[in-house]
Amino acid sequence: MRPVRSSVLCRLLPAPFSLALRSLVLVLLCITPRCQAVQAENVTVLEGGTAQISCRLQNYDGSIVVIQNPRRQTLFFNGTRALKDDRFQMVLFTPRLVLITLTNVSVSDEGGYFCQLYTDATHHQVATLSVLVPPETPTVEVKQEAVEGGEVELTCVSPRSKPATTLRWMRNGREIPGVVSQQDNGKTFSVSSTIRIPVERKDNGAAMSCEAFHPALSGQKRVRHYRLDVYFAPTVRIVPPTGILREGDSLSLICSVTGNPLPRNIQWSKINDTLPERAEISGPTLQISRLSQSHNGTYLCQAQNNYGRAADHYTLLVYDNVSLTTTVPPIPTTTQPTTFHPATPTLLTHSFAPDPRDPGAVVETHSAVPYAVIGGVLALLVFTVICVLIVAIWCSVRQKGSYLTHEASGLDEHGEVQEAFLNGNDASQGKKEYLL
Ligand SMILES: *[C@@H]1O[C@H](CO)[C@@H](O)[C@H](O)[C@H]1NC(C)=O
Ligand SMILES: *[C@@H]1O[C@H](CO)[C@@H](O)[C@H](O)[C@H]1NC(C)=O
Ligand SMILES: *[C@@H]1O[C@H](CO)[C@@H](O)[C@H](O)[C@H]1NC(C)=O
Ligand SMILES: *[C@@H]1O[C@H](CO)[C@@H](O)[C@H](O)[C@H]1NC(C)=O
Ligand SMILES: *[C@@H]1O[C@H](CO)[C@@H](O)[C@H](O)[C@H]1NC(C)=O
Ligand SMILES: *[C@@H]1O[C@H](CO)[C@@H](O)[C@H](O)[C@H]1NC(C)=O
Repeated sequence: MRPVRSSVLCRLLPAPFSLALRSLVLVLLCITPRCQAVQAENVTVLEGGTAQISCRLQNYDGSIVVIQNPRRQTLFFNGTRALKDDRFQMVLFTPRLVLITLTNVSVSDEGGYFCQLYTDATHHQVATLSVLVPPETPTVEVKQEAVEGGEVELTCVSPRSKPATTLRWMRNGREIPGVVSQQDNGKTFSVSSTIRIPVERKDNGAAMSCEAFHPALSGQKRVRHYRLDVYFAPTVRIVPPTGILREGDSLSLICSVTGNPLPRNIQWSKINDTLPERAEISGPTLQISRLSQSHNGTYLCQAQNNYGRAADHYTLLVYDNVSLTTTVPPIPTTTQPTTFHPATPTLLTHSFAPDPRDPGAVVETHSAVPYAVIGGVLALLVFTVICVLIVAIWCSVRQKGSYLTHEASGLDEHGEVQEAFLNGNDASQGKKEYLL
């Protein structure tokens, strides 16, 4: 009789009451007429973790307690295992609390677990199990390789999470907004965020990162670092030796190469010639020991990768010992450090550097300059004298009267100048006499 009364009372309870309020009401209602009841708590657990499903009992009188899974299969029948799944364990069965655990929880275990109390009238409560799937560290996919001057498309992928992960692209502490796409794979989500950024050579090696935020990570984030790889054609520069080179010296040329990928092979060659026998190449360095003048010439360093090729050249001039001791010309220093076209420095040194085996050339250039100057001055003087004579004659013929004295003094000045220049020339004397 009693159980029937109490169960009727309990069934009158409104369902959506909060747990606390409900317990209070139950306690108040069931003080004298002993009333049985069961309460279940919702559970949230990470995938792979262990869920505790508890059913609290009140005024338990030894009735049968049945626990069922979301498919309403009976897991435990009053403490006895019914379903053959070892992941479920009955941990506690007291008149106040029935506690079972579920280990290695998967998303398929989600749903409502029923705590049922079989009395004359059946009570039940549902404990909802929710499973969170935290994301793995996201991965970065590169659609096409980044070439200097182009664009790179990077996709950050979080293939599985529940609920959906939030992805964020970062560079130098700043967010780069991406295009997010989300796919529902039944219980879990795959999320991706794609960015497109223009790339230059300076972006090579830039540090980027994709961050994944998720409620299951409790404020932490999973970060994938990505180093931007920008491909570009090589650049080549020969580092020239300093100072001038003489016979017997050794030469060491270093070819400084950049490029992405860095060119594997650096080719050394000599223009219009083969490399000297004594030339040793090790990586980017060309070395020639005991230089001789036969090593004169233009040396070329070349490198290439899939994105282009580049070259630099260096013109080697080996001076002999003799010319160095007699004259250390200032010109060779200008020919040394640059890697310009070979024609210019070669011409310069040939015309100015005194070569003992060909002294005539030097003498010729030295003597030719003064003769030309003297000849020119003489010609100019003669021309001036003739002009003055013509003017003087013309004037004296036309205006003899009042202008005669003035004219004579002006001509006298000219005569003195001529005298100073020509210093005892017969012609000037003659002209002077003639004019006066
Ligand atoms: C438990 O979860 C279910 C479904 O999510 C919800 O309807 C119910 O109100 C929750 N119960 C409690 C006590 O939070
Ligand atoms: C159910 O199990 C509880 C605890 O073991 C026990 O006290 C009770 O008598 C059982 N009820 C029935 C009907 O077997
Ligand atoms: C947990 O369950 C998954 C499948 O849901 C299984 O692959 C894995 O081996 C299980 N791990 C353990 C420790 O039992
Ligand atoms: C190489 O030879 C060609 C043809 O003989 C000539 O035109 C060119 O100037 C030479 N180059 C050098 C660096 O000597
Ligand atoms: C090499 O260069 C030096 C300096 O210009 C020059 O004096 C010499 O004659 C050159 N030798 C040969 C073999 O070309
Ligand atoms: C120049 O000097 C070196 C050593 O200083 C010597 O070996 C070489 O024979 C000399 N060359 C000439 C042309 O004098």
